[in-house]
Amino acid sequence: MKGEVRAFAPATVANVSCGFDILGFAIDTLGDVVRVKEKKEPGIQVVSITGDQGRLPLDPTKNTCAVAVQALLTELNQTIGLEIYLEKGLPLGSGLGSSAASAVAALVATNRLLDDPFEKKQLLPFAMAAEKIACGVGHADNVAPCLLGGFVLIRDYQPLDIIKLPVPKDLHCIVLHPHFELNTADSRAVIRDRIAVSQATIQSGNVAGLIAGLFQEDFELIGRSLKDVIAEPYRAALIPAFYQVKEAVLAAGALGMGISGSGPTLFVLSKGKDQVQQILEAARLVYDSFGLGVDDYHSSINTEGAYVLD
Ligand code: HSE
Repeated sequence: MKGEVRAFAPATVANVSCGFDILGFAIDTLGDVVRVKEKKEPGIQVVSITGDQGRLPLDPTKNTCAVAVQALLTELNQTIGLEIYLEKGLPLGSGLGSSAASAVAALVATNRLLDDPFEKKQLLPFAMAAEKIACGVGHADNVAPCLLGGFVLIRDYQPLDIIKLPVPKDLHCIVLHPHFELNTADSRAVIRDRIAVSQATIQSGNVAGLIAGLFQEDFELIGRSLKDVIAEPYRAALIPAFYQVKEAVLAAGALGMGISGSGPTLFVLSKGKDQVQQILEAARLVYDSFGLGVDDYHSSINTEGAYVLD
C-alpha cells in the first residue's frame, strides 16, 4: 500500500439536453485534483481545500470527497485513517460536475492507495452517495462519465446499469461558463414532476436519436437530437441570454447547444474545430450585450475519465 496518492477527475456535461439524469460526457483539461494520505489515527480528515475561496466544508460529513471515501471504507469494513487535500480546478455551482469531480478524484486516489480493491465502475455508488449530500439527489450522470470517460448512459438506477457509448472522433465540445452560479437543488426545483405522454414521446425520440447519432457518427442527427422538453424550458428562464446564445451559436455553425447539467454553463457541440472560433465569437458578443462575463473552453470529449496522477 502506498502512503499517499493523487488523482485527477474531469469536468462533465450531464443531461446532454434530452438525457435528463441519464446521459453525460466528460471533457478534457478542466477538473479537480485530490491527494489522499494515510494517517495514524482512524477517521477521515479534510485537511485543505484550495481554489474554492473558502466556501466548501471541511466537515467530513458534508464534504463530498470525505462522504465518498467514507462510503468506500465502510463497504470494505476498513478503519484506516486518511487525510484529504482537495485542489478545486472547477468553479462551484457551474453545472460542470464540480462536486462529482471532487468525489471521484478522492475515490480513485483512495482506491489506488488501498491497492485497487474495486474496479472503476464499482466506485460509482460511493460517488453517488456524495452527490446526494451535494445536491439532494444521488444522480449518476456526472459521476459516471467523470469516472469512466466518454459518453455514458445510465439505463437504469435500480439496479444501476451503466453503458459506455461510442464517441465520434471529430466530436468537439465548447463550454460557456457565464459568471454567475446556479445551485443544482434550486435548478431541479423548477422542473415539473409530471410530463404529458406527447412530451415523453418527443424526449424518447431525441434520446434515441442522439444515441443512434453517436453510433453512426452522424453529426447532423446528433445536432438535431439535442432537444429537451423536460428541463430546458424551465431552466432556461434561470439563465440570462440562453435563447439568444443558442440562436447565435447555431447560426455560427454549431451542431446544437444545451444546458450543461443544471446550468448556468452551456455546452455546444461542433463537428471538428473549424467553426470553434466563430462559435466562441458569436457567443461572446451575446454575453457582452447582456453585460455578462463568460469563461469559455473547448475540448475533445475526454474518453479516459478520472486517473491516478502519482
Ligand atoms: N442531471 C442533473 C440535473 C445534473 O440536471 O439536475 C446536475 O449536474
